[in-house]
Amino acid sequence: MHSPIELPQLAAQLGGGEWLVLGGGSNVVLPEYYAGTVVLPQFLGIEQLACEQGLRIKAFAGESWHGFVTQCTARGWWGLENLALIPGTVGAAPIQNIGAYGLEVAQRIESVTVWDCQAQTLREIAAAECGFGYRDSVFKRGSLGKTIVVAVTFLLPLPQDWRPIASYADVARALNGEQAPSAQAVFDAVIAIRRAKLPDPAVIGNAGSFFKNPVVTDVQASTLLALHPKLPHYPQANGQCKLAAAWLIDQCGFKGRGADLGIGKIGVHPQQALVLVNLAGQGKALAQDVRAVAEEIQTTVNDRFGIWLEVEPIFVT
Ligand code: EPU
Repeated sequence: MHSPIELPQLAAQLGGGEWLVLGGGSNVVLPEYYAGTVVLPQFLGIEQLACEQGLRIKAFAGESWHGFVTQCTARGWWGLENLALIPGTVGAAPIQNIGAYGLEVAQRIESVTVWDCQAQTLREIAAAECGFGYRDSVFKRGSLGKTIVVAVTFLLPLPQDWRPIASYADVARALNGEQAPSAQAVFDAVIAIRRAKLPDPAVIGNAGSFFKNPVVTDVQASTLLALHPKLPHYPQANGQCKLAAAWLIDQCGFKGRGADLGIGKIGVHPQQALVLVNLAGQGKALAQDVRAVAEEIQTTVNDRFGIWLEVEPIFVT
């Protein structure tokens, strides 16, 4: 689908049948056969809209996310550089509220334009109504299958108000302690870190972080930290504490494992224990193979640390 003008026609074609919207497909685990209709919104366009308090940029859903961030960084529309190289499309970004290196996309979103499949109309949803949370939004929960993201409007700081977000340990290290890096320097640092740690889904199948970092009560965090003082943890504004799932998985010895796991088709990335990789090549590992290894990890981590890790990608059934 190339234009939002086609949406009413598409809705009529789909009728009451099953359908699924895909962005880049890098955060979903697909079944061997999907009986419904797959919709690929390929709406393109990036435009600057009038605004005095910041830079209001509207990008259409089919734009490549990284292409968009690259263009913004080059044009002086700064504020998204920490999210460089995340696979997928602009339309997928708000669904799971993509986040990396100290920034979540929700912090830069002003509104999301969606096609409301029930009301058969375009709707503008203000960021405050999107229910954004850590790797979460209303689109990922209730409205999945009821709305199609058409465009996302970002509100970026004016260049004079922009400040780098560079305190994340990996970013600070990659910038060699540079105190006032440019947006381009942050963009380059993030790309270098991602290339070193995360497998490219175009080369080896993966869905990025397979588990969310668990958020626990401060009491549970203190109990765990007393036993495991090295557990990386990030206190949250609401008093809870986010723990590094990768560390928990790593401690259970899963990192780099492959041939000996499940039926040998799914492995754990050697550089980042949160990432499951398809060792069998395209089309050869099935969703159930992924699920089996995910469950082995969840059970082992739970037995050792008392935490049940939540799966992050969406399993399509
Ligand atoms: N760690 C380990 N073993 C590992 C990997 C990491 O012990 O194999 C430890 C690290 O030493 C570090 C901590 O775990 O102290 C956190 O690691 P990292 O900085 O790599 O980040 P993460 O919490 O594992 C999250 C996101 C990533 C995002 C990075 C950077 C989630 C689920 N994942 O990973 O997002 O790129 O932070 O901000 O929140 C994605 O969502 O697909 C994704 C890759």
